[in-house]
Amino acid sequence: MKHTISQHNATRQDSIYQSFLPDITPIIQGGDSSFSLYNKEYQQSYHSKSLGAYSETLYKHIIPVLIFKKSLGFSNQESSLLKGNRYSANDFETKFLDSMENIESVSRVFLGKRFYIKQQVMLENCAMPESQQSNLNRPLRILDICFGLGFNACMALQVFKNCEIYSPEKDNLLDLLKDFPYPENLRSQAYCILENLQTTNLYYDTAKNQRLYFLQGNALDIVQTFPCNFFDVVFQDAFSQARNSELWTTQYLKTLFNITSSQAVITTYAKARRILESARLAGFKVVKHALGSIFYKSDFLV
Ligand SMILES: C[S@@+](CC[C@H](N)C(=O)[O-])C[C@H]1O[C@@H](n2cnc3c(N)ncnc32)[C@H](O)[C@@H]1O
Repeated sequence: MKHTISQHNATRQDSIYQSFLPDITPIIQGGDSSFSLYNKEYQQSYHSKSLGAYSETLYKHIIPVLIFKKSLGFSNQESSLLKGNRYSANDFETKFLDSMENIESVSRVFLGKRFYIKQQVMLENCAMPESQQSNLNRPLRILDICFGLGFNACMALQVFKNCEIYSPEKDNLLDLLKDFPYPENLRSQAYCILENLQTTNLYYDTAKNQRLYFLQGNALDIVQTFPCNFFDVVFQDAFSQARNSELWTTQYLKTLFNITSSQAVITTYAKARRILESARLAGFKVVKHALGSIFYKSDFLV
C-alpha cells in the first residue's frame, strides 16, 4: 500500500515536530515521501534523500539480508547433496549478485507480485517463513549499528520472527521520536516499540519471540561486550566514514568479524574502495552491489 501522508498532514507533522526538536535535526522528506532527519553535528542526513528512509532501509539492509539468506539456503541445500563438500563462495556470490542486480523483480518474490520500487508495503504480510529464515535453532541475532530513528530495527521486526536485535546508540531521541511522522505502515508499531524502549530499553513480543534492546552508549565500547560468533546479521549504518570514522576502521571491523557467526552478513550503504579494503583486511568477503555492499564470512562448511 502506498504511503499517503497528505500534504496538509505532512506540513502539520513537520511544524509540530520542528517545535519539539533541537535545531540540530530539521526534518527532511525523501524520494519515497518518507521522512528523515538531518544531524547538524555530523552534517548529514540519517537517510538518503533520493531514496527516502523507508526505501533505503528496505533496499540496503532488509532485502540484502533476505537475499543473502535465500542464496545461502540454496547453497546449503545444494552442498548438503554433495556430502562433506565445502560450499563454493563463488556460487553464492553469483547468485547474490544476480539477485541484487534484479532487485526489483527479486523483491517481488519476497514482497508480492504487486510490488514496485519506492512503494511502501506491509512488511509483516510478506515476512520470510521462519523455516527459510534460518537453519538456527535459536533466534536470529542482529546487531543494528546504530538505532538512530529506528527504521532498521522497526522494519527488521516486521520481517524477522524469532529474532533478537541489539541497537547501540549514543544519542537518546526516543522521546522526540514519539511524534516522528513514520510511514503509515510502520507508525503504530514504531510508536509501541519506542514507548517500550523508553521505559525499559527493551521491546519484546512473546508471540513472535522477538526482542529489541536499546543500548545507550558508544557503539565502539558496546561491540566489545559481545561474545565471539554471536551475531548473524549486522546493519552497518553509521554516518559516513568522513564524519563517523571510528565506526569504519579496520580495527572496528575486526571486532565485528570476531563477534559474528560463520554464516553472518553485514549490510551497508558504503561502497568506497577504502572501506571495502578494510572489510577484507578484517577477514570478510566483500560483494558490492548497486546500492551498497555486503561483507560476509566465507567459511560455509556443511
Ligand atoms: C545514519 S544514523 C543511523 C540510522 C538508523 N540506522 C535508522 O534506521 O534510523 C547513524 C547513527 O549512529 C549514531 N552514532 C554515531 N556514532 C556513534 C557511536 N560511536 N556510538 C553510538 N552511536 C553512534 C548516531 O547518533 C546516529 O543515530
